[in-house]
Amino acid sequence: MDNIVKKSVADVFGIEDPAFKNTVVKVFPATPDTPENIKDFVFRSDVLRRLMVWAASVSLPAGFFGATMKRNLMIYGPTGCGKTALAQVFCARTGRSLIRAQCSEDTEPSSLFGTWRLCRPILKEDPSEEAGLIEKGVAGIARAIEKLAIAVKKTTGVGPEMTWVDGPVLRWARMPNSVLLLDEFDQLPPSVAMSLNAVLDGDDILVPETGERVKPAPGNLLAATANTNGRGSAGGNGGSASLYKGAKRQNVATMDRFFVIHTSYLSEAEERQLLMKQTRVNEAVSTAMATLASKIRTQFLGINEDAGAAGTPLEFTITTRNLLNWAMSYTLMVSTGMQSKLALKEALRMTLLDFATPDERKAVEDTWESVVGANA
Ligand SMILES: Nc1ncnc2c1ncn2[C@@H]1O[C@H](COP(=O)(O)OP(=O)(O)OP(=O)(O)O)[C@@H](O)[C@H]1O
Ligand SMILES: [Mg+2]
Repeated sequence: MDNIVKKSVADVFGIEDPAFKNTVVKVFPATPDTPENIKDFVFRSDVLRRLMVWAASVSLPAGFFGATMKRNLMIYGPTGCGKTALAQVFCARTGRSLIRAQCSEDTEPSSLFGTWRLCRPILKEDPSEEAGLIEKGVAGIARAIEKLAIAVKKTTGVGPEMTWVDGPVLRWARMPNSVLLLDEFDQLPPSVAMSLNAVLDGDDILVPETGERVKPAPGNLLAATANTNGRGSAGGNGGSASLYKGAKRQNVATMDRFFVIHTSYLSEAEERQLLMKQTRVNEAVSTAMATLASKIRTQFLGINEDAGAAGTPLEFTITTRNLLNWAMSYTLMVSTGMQSKLALKEALRMTLLDFATPDERKAVEDTWESVVGANA
């Protein structure tokens, strides 16, 4: 295809690793569905390597392998560690379109595949007695137009009717080189997740409502995110699955169709750099913030259901999302004149601590004092 540029991993993802010296990254022309890039996003070599293998599954020459490769990727790990962002930034850097479907226990096959909608002008309720002349006049004109449309439909057969509206799966299937992101996949009722098995297999999609057969466009990839491994476990690397309300055990045949990345929070050193690059905090503040996050996570991760409790567990964590927001609100508070020490505490409360119980708050604040004391 024209316009595809081939680049190095260093150019696209900013990773200088000799292990990628022969890796070629295809960059497509961006579309309106290509997400915004996240500058300074920290990629890890091991995660990137898996992304590259996954992407290769749809770009290898026909017949390269005798067997069929999976082209679906499950990214699972604790809340706020960058799973959704990873899929977004991969698309942003490679120019791929991203179709994101938010999964929940209320998701039905029709919310994924599509549905019939009546595309006709629907009049709002009549304007109230108190409505002004203009509002009443506009409503009158709209009613007249609707009557006219119905009359035209009756006499000529042309007019408003039921229209099929594609859901995210079909929109993705029709768009070459796009990624379908099924976010919070483990929230899906297993029967709904299983309705996707043919899609996960890369088969043509049959739409019973319209009789259409949709062939997945070339280069299409599918990714899913989850907090659990689809079997009710957080994987021993980030909290207890019981904290992720609504997560369901999925059918093992569904999970079998995915490659997997079990991800977790960035390291303390990586987050310190990220804070300085993205939130305008200085080195001392970013060091203290990253240290607190790391200590609190150790306690949060200590309650994972596989390893057994170690020490006093906390039922919440400081996510990368929270850490960045703590730093950004701190920066704003200081810039409006608040004293730095107070702003650190107040920004932490605003970002996270006011959700905590008094005991949890005390545990975090004590840890913070020990961190600040150690860095003073
Ligand atoms: N490696 C990273 N580099 C830069 N920013 C990151 C990184 N990982 C996470 N972030 C930032 O952390 C925030 C949270 O990430 P994201 O929303 O992707 O988390 P998540 O794992 O999908 O969480 P949840 O399970 O709650 O949906 C984002 O603002 C993202 O930019
Ligand atoms: Mg997410």
